[in-house]
Amino acid sequence: MLERVAKIPVAFTVNGDAVQVRTWPMMRLLDVLREELRDTGTKEGCGEGECGACSVLIDGKLVNSCLVPIAQVAGADVRTIEGVFADPRFPAVRDAFVRCNAAQCGICTPGMILATLALLAEHARPTEAQVREALAGNLCRCTGYVRIFEAVREGAAGCCAGASAGGAGHSGGGSAGGSAHPGASHDGAGGSSPAGGSDRTGGAPASGGGAPA
Ligand code: FES
Ligand code: FES
Repeated sequence: MLERVAKIPVAFTVNGDAVQVRTWPMMRLLDVLREELRDTGTKEGCGEGECGACSVLIDGKLVNSCLVPIAQVAGADVRTIEGVFADPRFPAVRDAFVRCNAAQCGICTPGMILATLALLAEHARPTEAQVREALAGNLCRCTGYVRIFEAVREGAAGCCAGASAGGAGHSGGGSAGGSAHPGASHDGAGGSSPAGGSDRTGGAPASGGGAPA
């Protein structure tokens, strides 16, 4: 006998706003965000949990929304790239990405920014290893990781400078510390993950691999 699955109501918050959708329990959070709520800043790359383009924060934890059934977010707090303006670290991170030319097509950028903010929420002054681990689940096909890592480092420095100066921000002007990055020889090439290891919930495997189609 054919089993039928009914649509269900799911209530949660997106960037602080209460929302309720009525949909299939296994509908992907990514699709609900983009198609129903029109939050199209969240991108789809691989659709398989490999690339991190669809990254969002659920209750503060970075996840790949293409792997999250909507039923799992009932009652949760979801933050997308549209909601990053509420994060006091965002201006410094944004400025650093611009200054370091850390984006080209921009498909990966929302996920990179959210991964960076999640990292800085845990580690105000991340080590190189922590930067690499935090972005291990986010793939970039065109910019390469040298500039992105540089932007994360500069963004962290800008946040710290802003905090110690009472929010005065980070004065710009070129990249601090150059882009030398032993082992990050991925500039311009697609495919592999920037660093080994990602413990992202519902997310990318430890060593990346799949390139967004
Ligand atoms: S689209 Fe979700 S991880 Fe690639
Ligand atoms: S800027 Fe194009 S995929 Fe990263």
